[in-house]
Formats: sequence, C-alpha cells, structure tokens
Amino acid sequence: MVLSSTPYDRLGGAEAVRAIVDRFYDLVESDPAYAALKAMHGEDFGPVRHALAQFLIAWSGGPRDWFTRRPGACIMSFHRALPVTSETAAQWAHAMDRAIAADPGLEPETARLVADALDRMCRAMAAQARAA
Ligand code: HEM
Repeated sequence: MVLSSTPYDRLGGAEAVRAIVDRFYDLVESDPAYAALKAMHGEDFGPVRHALAQFLIAWSGGPRDWFTRRPGACIMSFHRALPVTSETAAQWAHAMDRAIAADPGLEPETARLVADALDRMCRAMAAQARAA
C-alpha cells in the first residue's frame, strides 16, 4: 500500500508554513532587491502575512480557511487587479525560494517542488498581466 502525504504534511504543517511566510515578508521588507515588490504593498504587512500563510496552508493541502472565508475566490483573479510585472513576479519567486530554502527541516526535494510550483504561479500572474 502506498501512503500518500500532502505537501502541507511534508512542509511540516501550519507552523512551518507560517515561518516560511514570515521569512518571505521579512526579506521583502528589508532587502533592497525586493524594493519594487515592497512598494506594491501598504505600510502594514500584518494582514498580508496572515492571508498568504492561510492561502499557502490551504493550497498545500491543509485546512481550507482561506477559501471558506472567501467563497469563490481565485488567487489568479485577485492578482489580475494588481499591477504585476515580470520584475515583481521574479522578485516574489526569488524571495519565496530563499524563504523556503532557509527551512532547516525541509527535504530538498519538497523544497524544490513547492518553490517551483510557486515560481510557475508567479510567471502565470505576470503573463496574465501582460495579456490584459
Ligand atoms: C507574481 C508576483 C506577485 C505579486 C507582485 C504579488 C503582489 C501582491 C500584493 C501587492 C498583495 C497585497 C494586496 C493588498 O494588500 O491589497 C498581495 C496579496 C496576496 N498575494 Fe500576492 N503577489 C504575487 C504572487 C503571489 C502568489 C504566487 C501567491 C500565492 C501563492 C500570492 C498570494 C497572495 C495572497 C493570498 C494575498 C492576500 C490576499 C487576501 O487578502 O487574502 N501572491 N500580493
């Protein structure tokens, strides 16, 4: 019998996802390499830290609060309303890659799988913005 585990399980659950998101936004807020991405956000990063963690928890196979609190919400449609560019999409993917890679307990294969999937999502968001 093959036992399956979700990316959420392999990431280490909600606490581990929250830690990744905190590292991600710490980088975005402090590293000038992500200045253009930071400038798209408001002053208070608290709400978006919480929302991104909730989304990634649901997206990776954990509790689905982000979706149940936003019936019919689609993350691609949400970002269509934002001025995403290839530059800010690359910054998002780069900061997230670093935030995931800095998780000491994560298997490299899981880190690669999750970072690559999020990179593809960023590229798709940039492509839909170019097509608009
Ligand atoms: C393509 C590069 C991306 C850019 C430039 C970007 C930019 C932003 C910005 C500026 C906000 C804050 C909007 C506001 O406060 O009104 C935001 C919110 C958010 N982003 Fe992104 N984002 C990107 C990629 C992603 C990806 C790949 C995901 C999912 C894996 C994601 C998930 C979210 C979530 C969940 C929120 C909060 C939405 C809510 O209120 O629930 N973003 N994004």
